[in-house]
Amino acid sequence: MSDKAILELDGKKFEFPVFKGPENETAIDISTLRGSTNGVITLDPGFKNTGSCESKITFLDGEKGILRHRGYAIEELTKKASFLEVAFLVIFGELPTKAELKKFEDDIKSHSLVNEEMKDIVVGFPKSAHPMGMLSSFTSALTSFNPGVVDINSKEDMYNAIVKILGKFPVLATWAHRRNHGLPLNYADNSLGYIENLMQLMFKIPTEDYKINPIAVKALDELLILHEDHEQNCSTSTVRIVGSSGAGLFASLAAGVSALWGPLHGGANQAVIEMLEAIQKDGGDVAKYIAKAKDKNDPFRLMGFGHRVYKNFDPRARIIKNAADELFEDLNLNDPILDIAKHLEEVALKDEYFAERKLYPNVDFYSGIIYRALGIPVSMFTVMFAIGRLPGWIAQWKEMRENGEPIGRPRQLYTGETLRSFLPFEKR
Ligand code: CMC
Repeated sequence: MSDKAILELDGKKFEFPVFKGPENETAIDISTLRGSTNGVITLDPGFKNTGSCESKITFLDGEKGILRHRGYAIEELTKKASFLEVAFLVIFGELPTKAELKKFEDDIKSHSLVNEEMKDIVVGFPKSAHPMGMLSSFTSALTSFNPGVVDINSKEDMYNAIVKILGKFPVLATWAHRRNHGLPLNYADNSLGYIENLMQLMFKIPTEDYKINPIAVKALDELLILHEDHEQNCSTSTVRIVGSSGAGLFASLAAGVSALWGPLHGGANQAVIEMLEAIQKDGGDVAKYIAKAKDKNDPFRLMGFGHRVYKNFDPRARIIKNAADELFEDLNLNDPILDIAKHLEEVALKDEYFAERKLYPNVDFYSGIIYRALGIPVSMFTVMFAIGRLPGWIAQWKEMRENGEPIGRPRQLYTGETLRSFLPFEKR
């Protein structure tokens, strides 16, 4: 392919450099377009064709169904590494040595205590509040307890902010759940690993022993690894764009949590289970829901299907489907919802509508089924996604700040009124 692209406008030719990535991805650099054409911009709602940055963190090929972090295949990472090991890789670029991982884990643990005054904020929320709304607010509130500015030129400052949020985030996330259920706010147990600790933070009650099930820990560890990063998705782009204004890490992450909440993004895992339950209640008539999803007069969409970048199987969905099968077998569980999901997938994949539009199951199609099997309430599904995605958000924020990227500020094509005279009140 040529190393320049030519645009012809009003008989004049403009040249733009063409860049290629190591995986043969091609990008036309249009950063000089507006200046050289006297104000012409590109229009790309939803940024379907727009690269907002250069990044070394995650490579994905939506056509081939490939996902890699720092060059390592997601299939290998989920089988061979732990959640924090992958977090270290995603954030710092290389797999940790044994000593580096031990230090990383210990440093995270050393930040697992949250300021007691934060509890006043937690109980200030109504018990009915959605945990994602609470989590976004708690993350934002952390800035008040940590008013110091992170010096992005100091590796130490950056590292401390990273281990601090990784230590406190699971505590805050599970406090949202405990607030919902009127349970006492738990403390972390630093004798446990990250995922074990997350489980006890969620489920341990003071009146009873809590036995951690290693099968459940393995399943959750794998599931959270699958969510760690996914290049420039909606919440990650939000984190980068908020951070590009110079806003701090915790403030940027709080915005990322809000972006993830939406049902077209991380909120889909909750929406999938609600959809499957509705199908079950309705007698399990899968064909009826497929027809609804295809009907352009019906706003219903098959939740957990389709993806902005995957026009093939989401590789994460394959791994999750197998993990769900393994978990159900290991725990000797049976869930009719899993059967409905499999039936729905089978019918949809054979249907022309879904084939033509390249709509395949995405990461959220089976993740809720695993969360459900682990006893995690539906309203907490997207919070689990947020805990999984935290390392990716951190890595992307760090990369953006270290690259010294300019403030994110898109242009627009104005389509409103042209100049008109103001009409006084009496005349309107
Ligand atoms: N059910 C029925 N039709 C669909 C679906 C669906 N789930 N997804 C897309 N379509 C149709 C859509 O109606 C359109 O049809 P037409 O060309 O006839 O107008 C065509 O497929 C293209 O859809 P689009 O909305 O232009 O595609 P997009 O890239 O803007 O949207 C998406 C991607 C994920 C928002 C969308 O597929 C969707 O709403 N899926 C359901 C929600 C979901 O599962 N979200 C989780 C995404 S994965 C987790 C994450 O990364 O957050």
